[in-house]
Amino acid sequence: LTLTMEVSQIMKGGYDHFMQKEIHEQPDSILQTMRGRVRFERTSKHAVDPYKEHRILLGGLTDQVETIRRSRRIMFIACGTSYHSCLAARQTVEELVDVPVALELASDLMDRHCPIFRDDTCVFVSQSGETADTLMALEYAKVRGALLIGVTNTVGSAIARMTHCGVHINAGCEIGVASTKAYTSQMVAITMMALMLSEDSIQRRPLRDAIIEDMGKLPDSIREVLKLDDEMKALAEQLKKEENLLVFGRGYNYATALEAALKVKEVAYMHSEGILAGEMKHGPLALVDENLAIIVVATRDRMYEKMKSVIQQLRARHARLIVLCNPGDPDLETLMSPKCRLIHVPRLADCLQPIINIVPLQLLSYHLTILRGFNVDQPRNLAKSVTIT
Ligand code: G6P
Repeated sequence: LTLTMEVSQIMKGGYDHFMQKEIHEQPDSILQTMRGRVRFERTSKHAVDPYKEHRILLGGLTDQVETIRRSRRIMFIACGTSYHSCLAARQTVEELVDVPVALELASDLMDRHCPIFRDDTCVFVSQSGETADTLMALEYAKVRGALLIGVTNTVGSAIARMTHCGVHINAGCEIGVASTKAYTSQMVAITMMALMLSEDSIQRRPLRDAIIEDMGKLPDSIREVLKLDDEMKALAEQLKKEENLLVFGRGYNYATALEAALKVKEVAYMHSEGILAGEMKHGPLALVDENLAIIVVATRDRMYEKMKSVIQQLRARHARLIVLCNPGDPDLETLMSPKCRLIHVPRLADCLQPIINIVPLQLLSYHLTILRGFNVDQPRNLAKSVTIT
């Protein structure tokens, strides 16, 4: 096995840590994921058959598009952060493609001997392409005759080699144990896959056009969000002594809540939980008092009204709130107080919003870790690639 790596890629550039560098690389890594695969300009109305022109082309999947569309279900299988990217993008696949979607943590799939059939499409999402549990699930699905697709960041990895076809996310080498740029690129890759699979649907064309248009704005929007670095450092300063941190989200941003909490626990060693806001009254609300710090993801997507009511209920229990939202909302602006802080991020299509929303929370987990004095690139007890089960 020969590993070819650019020396410049494995150095930290001007940054103190790899995780920091990788967070700041995201405008570019996302661009690399889309490069040569997305045609941002709309098809002209006068084109011969405007519906047949490809706007998304994932070379690795072209031969399998029909098989995937005809499959009984599309099953996403992954571990850790990669699983969260599947969770974030699931709804996009559901909205764009007429095939039921299932989502599996690789270890759980194996524990349950989950039924898999030959007319299933199984998508294995893994940054390293070497995670043992994901690989075992891959072998398991292979024996059962399913179509196997790999979404990895590592050319020549086991998952890339053992699948029938796939998509390289092209995010560039990721060294920090906590995955950051691979996460955002995985979401983009799965979104592109969904867009490509829905190219035969005229009915979904307006939605597809809107998503593709906003995909073009992703790099600049992330650049915008990265300017929150100092603000996130100041927030980390306020939160560094906390023992607990909850993160509430729902819909597309349930994944944002889980992923933000995972980042905080894995590198900053702070107990943190991502909570589906729809389940708040079934337990988590009992934890809330005036001491608990809670991050609420309330950007203006379809879940916004519901999230506002969640905020009201948390405020009624005097929680300390940090609300991630889009600018210019009078309802939320009035909340601003010593007990409630707002973090503003740009607004994009609902399904792309999680890609933007996670970035300030990655920055927060980074700064929390540095302020608490831990090794951000190599958290204790964890490995970049878990190759044993
Ligand atoms: C480890 C890493 C995580 C990663 C997970 C899955 O736990 O620390 O950052 O998300 O493995 O890895 P994979 O390479 O399959 O995406």
